[in-house]
Amino acid sequence: MNESAFLKCINPSCGLEYPIYSKNIECERGHLLDVKYKKTPSTELKELFYTRRNPQGSIFNESGVWRFRELLNFCQIDTSNQEECSKYLVSLDGAEGRQSKPYQMSKVADFVGASHSGLWLQPEGYNPSGSFKDNGMSTAVTHAKLIGAKKLICASTGNTSAAAAMYAANENMECDVYIPAGQIAPGKLSQAYQFGAQIVQVQGNFDDALAKSLDDAKHHDGYTVNSVNPFRIEGQKTIPYRAIEYLNWNPPDWIVYPGGALGNISSCGKALMELYEWGWIKKIPRIAVINSEGASTLYDLYNGNFEETELRWNKGSPDTGLIERYYKHLDSKGIRPKTKATAIQIGRPANILKGLRALEFTNGIVEKVSDAEMMDGMSIVGLNGFDCEMASGASPAGIKKLIEKEVIKKDDVVVGILTGRQKDSSLPVDYHNNPQNRFAIPPRG
Ligand code: F0G
Repeated sequence: MNESAFLKCINPSCGLEYPIYSKNIECERGHLLDVKYKKTPSTELKELFYTRRNPQGSIFNESGVWRFRELLNFCQIDTSNQEECSKYLVSLDGAEGRQSKPYQMSKVADFVGASHSGLWLQPEGYNPSGSFKDNGMSTAVTHAKLIGAKKLICASTGNTSAAAAMYAANENMECDVYIPAGQIAPGKLSQAYQFGAQIVQVQGNFDDALAKSLDDAKHHDGYTVNSVNPFRIEGQKTIPYRAIEYLNWNPPDWIVYPGGALGNISSCGKALMELYEWGWIKKIPRIAVINSEGASTLYDLYNGNFEETELRWNKGSPDTGLIERYYKHLDSKGIRPKTKATAIQIGRPANILKGLRALEFTNGIVEKVSDAEMMDGMSIVGLNGFDCEMASGASPAGIKKLIEKEVIKKDDVVVGILTGRQKDSSLPVDYHNNPQNRFAIPPRG
C-alpha cells in the first residue's frame, strides 16, 4: 500500500491493514480499526495552524460583530489598539457573528420557487447563545460596561434572555429576565437558568413582560438590553453587513426577516441608510418583514387592514394615533397575540417607528404566514442540513408566498435571515411524527 493514510487493526498481534476506501469497521478477526498516517507532520505546522485560526491574533478580528468595529465605534476608541479593544469591547471570545454568512440551500430554493443561485439564507442560530441576539447583545453590554452598569434587565420571548444572561455571566454582571410564564421554549428558559440569571415570571404575554421590565429598570437602576436600546441596534447592523460583504458589497434585491419587536429590521434599515449615505452601496435592497398570522400588528397597520389608512413613517410624522387605536382595539376585543412561534408572539412591537423608518427607506413590504407555513419553512431548512427555529421558518415561508404573489421575482437575489436555532425539540419531533406534514419523515420500527 503506498497511500499515506490507511486503516490498521488496533490489535498488535493482528495488525491487518486496509485501504482508506474500505467500508470495514473491523478487521477479519473482529478487531476495531484505526486510521493511520505514514508521514510525521513537521512541528512547523504549529505556526501555520495558529495563523489559519486567527490571522491577527485578536478575538476582535474573529468576531463577526467587532471586525466591523470602525462602523460601530460608539466607545470612540482607537480600533487598531488591541489593549483598548480588550478594555472596552465585550465579546464572547470572538464568537458572536463569527459563523454567520449567507448560504445557498437548493432544497429551500426549490420549495420557495427561487433560482438556486439567487436565494441565500443566513443562519444566525450558530451564534454562541443560538440566535441573532448575540450580535446586538455584545454591543449593548459593551455600552453597559462603558457606563458602569451592574445589572442587565430584559423582557424576552427567550432568545434575548439567553443572550443577555450569557454575556452578563461572562462579564460578571447581574441579570434579571422577565418572561411570559409558560410561553417560552424550554431550551431558551434553561439557558437563562444555566447562565445564572434571575428569572421573573410574568402572568401575561411578552408585551406585559416588557412593560414590567422597563418599569423595573427605571426604578431599580437596571440597564435595559431589549432592542429599544439603541446599542443593540448597532450590533445587529452587522447582520446585513456580513450578507452584503459576502456578496462583494453588491446588495441583494431583498432582505427578508421574521418580524417581532422589529429591532432587527430597524437595525437593517439603519445599516443600509448609513452604507448608502457613505457611498458604500449604490443600490438599496428592499426589506420584507414576515409576521406570524397570529401576531400581525405590523402587517395589519402597514397594509391598511385595520383602518383604511396604511401606516407609514411619513418622513418622520407617522400617524401614532392609528397605532394607539389599534392597540385599544386589541384590548377591547381581548385579542392576544397567538402563535406556536413564541419568539415572535408579540402584539406591540416596541420598535415600530424605527421599523417604519426602515421600510420607508427601503421601499419595504410586510407579509404574514401561518404556523403551518412556518413549520414547513423550518423543516425544509433542516433538510438542507441547517438548523433553525420555527420563527425563523417565517423567512423561507414568506419568500415563498411573495414569489407566488410575484412581488419577489424568481430571479431576484434574496437574502433570508434565519434568526435562531431550534430550542424547542418537541416541534420537529411532533412535525415528523405526523405523516400529513409536507416534509415529514415519520420514524420506522
Ligand atoms: N426570530 C427569533 C428567533 C427571535 O427570537 C425574535 C425575537 C425575532 C425573530 C424577532 O426579532 O424582535 O427584532 O423583530 N425575539 C425577542 C426575544 C423578542 O425576546 O428573544 P425582532
